[in-house]
Amino acid sequence: MNIEIFQTEEQLDRRAAEIIAEVVKTEDHPTLGLATGGTPVGTYKALIELHQQQKFTFKHVRTANLDEYVGLPKDHEQSYYYYMNEHLFKHIDLPLDQAHIPDGTASDLDAECRRYDDILASFGRIDVQILGIGHNGHIGFNEPADALQAGTHCVQLTDDTIQANARFFSSIDEVPKQAITVGVGPILKSKKILLLAKGESKADILHQALKGPITTQCPASLLQTHPNLYVLADEAAGRKLK
Ligand code: GLP
Repeated sequence: MNIEIFQTEEQLDRRAAEIIAEVVKTEDHPTLGLATGGTPVGTYKALIELHQQQKFTFKHVRTANLDEYVGLPKDHEQSYYYYMNEHLFKHIDLPLDQAHIPDGTASDLDAECRRYDDILASFGRIDVQILGIGHNGHIGFNEPADALQAGTHCVQLTDDTIQANARFFSSIDEVPKQAITVGVGPILKSKKILLLAKGESKADILHQALKGPITTQCPASLLQTHPNLYVLADEAAGRKLK
C-alpha cells in the first residue's frame, strides 16, 4: 500500500491526474474505472489541464463508472451521467460510445446489471480504478453489509449515504433510495487502485479502512488486500495515517 499525504487538495489532484495520464499515455488500450462524488472533481479538472497542456489523446480509452442512481434520467443534474459529462467528458476527446455508466432508468434493472458486467468483462481488467470513500466505508455504492457482491447489482442506499448525498439535492426526499453499483469483484481485480480522500470528515473512516480489520462492514477495508493500492489523502483526511 502506498500512502501519500498532500498539504493541499491541488497537489493531491495533480498527483492523481498524473497517475491517470500516465496510464492513458502508455497503455495501448487503457481502461479507466471512474468515480463520482465531491472528491474526484478536482482530479478530473487537473486531468483536463494535463490533457490540454500535454496534448495527449483519450481516443483509445475506454471508461466504466462505478455507479448510478436508480430513477434519475441522464439529463438530471444529479445523475452521475450528467456529472461525468460536466466534469470530464465534454472537456476531452473521449468518444462517448467508449464511456460506460450504468443506466439507472432501465426498465429491467437486473438485465442492466448483467449488461454492465458484460461490458466490464470485455475490458478484461481496469488499468486504474479511481475510488472515493463514503463516511460509512462504502466504495462505489457497496454499502456495509454482512456479505458483499462481486458483480454489478442494485442496492438500497443506507440512511447514512442518503444523508451524506442530500447536500447535492434541494431536499433529502429527492435523494434516490436505490442505486446500481459495480460489485467489489472488478474493483479488486483492477491493476491499480487510486483511493482519494479529502477533509477531516474522512479521517476516521480512512484510518479504519486501511489500518482496521478487513470486514464487509467496511467495504473499503477490502482494499488492504490489493497489491497495487495508492492512497492519496490531504492532511486532514490522512491525519490518522501518519
Ligand atoms: C458517493 C459515491 C461514491 C463516493 C462516495 C463519497 O455516494 N457513490 O463513489 O466515493 O459517495 O463521496 P464524496 O467524495 O462526495 O465524499
